[in-house]
Amino acid sequence: MRFAFFGDIVGRSGRDGLAEHLPHLRRRLGLEFVVVNAENAAGGFGITESTARELFAAGADCLTLGNHSWDQREALTYIVREPRLIRPLNYPAASQAPGRGAQLFETEGGHRVLVINLLGRVHMEPLLDDPFSAVDRELDACPLGQAADAIVVDMHAEATSEKMAMGHFCDGRASLVIGTHSHVPTADAQILNGGAAYQSDAGACADYDSVIGNQKEEPLRRFTTRISGGRFQPAEGPATVCGVYVETDPATGLALRIEPIRIGGRLSQTVPDVAVEERLQAAPAP
Ligand SMILES: [Fe+2]
Ligand SMILES: [Fe+2]
Repeated sequence: MRFAFFGDIVGRSGRDGLAEHLPHLRRRLGLEFVVVNAENAAGGFGITESTARELFAAGADCLTLGNHSWDQREALTYIVREPRLIRPLNYPAASQAPGRGAQLFETEGGHRVLVINLLGRVHMEPLLDDPFSAVDRELDACPLGQAADAIVVDMHAEATSEKMAMGHFCDGRASLVIGTHSHVPTADAQILNGGAAYQSDAGACADYDSVIGNQKEEPLRRFTTRISGGRFQPAEGPATVCGVYVETDPATGLALRIEPIRIGGRLSQTVPDVAVEERLQAAPAP
């Protein structure tokens, strides 16, 4: 099975970049399922129904969130109505977070894909529940190769160490463990010893003439003067759409291949080479 994951969509630039590139990537790579992190989709802060609709229309099958999940208040009610939008699993029970932290999807090709969204705690919100025990319960309840044909874990975290540890923790039980939140793609795409594809950060879908997707002036002002001059605004130039392409073994759900995707904008470009006959095999029956 062939699927892709794209990192944090930042504002209009990221949404437009996904709309421009995802439709032809779906065909070119024979993608059966696409997960997109959307925590910065609405002006850099959170998600709204209208921005989510743009991403679904571009070809996203599932949207994940992160520390900015609730920046737009309407997300609190929209997520209850939209099962394709998921939020981090490990909010404390006392927070009564609406929506789901994990969701099982069925593709047009008849494959079952479980998507799990987690928030890290290192250099982030320390009062979250433990993401490791939270994901452990989900993976136990939905074994890869039995109850799910593919399992995608979006580990939204600041510390690379915490993301890498999560990769090893889920290894053998997930198809892909992918980091998000730091908005810069890392060069460590690999298949771990137990068969989970892994990359420490997917990167963002954003204008990279920026500071992690924001216009440069305000971050520079704060770093150099320590004085805020206003809120962060997403950079508005063409986005580089960043993510990973993954192929799994249909029998086990474990990864056979992971390759980075970077297309559009100013980062060095890379799109995996997928043979035509493979793409035809991947396409669902008419
Ligand atoms: Fe983000
Ligand atoms: Fe984030």
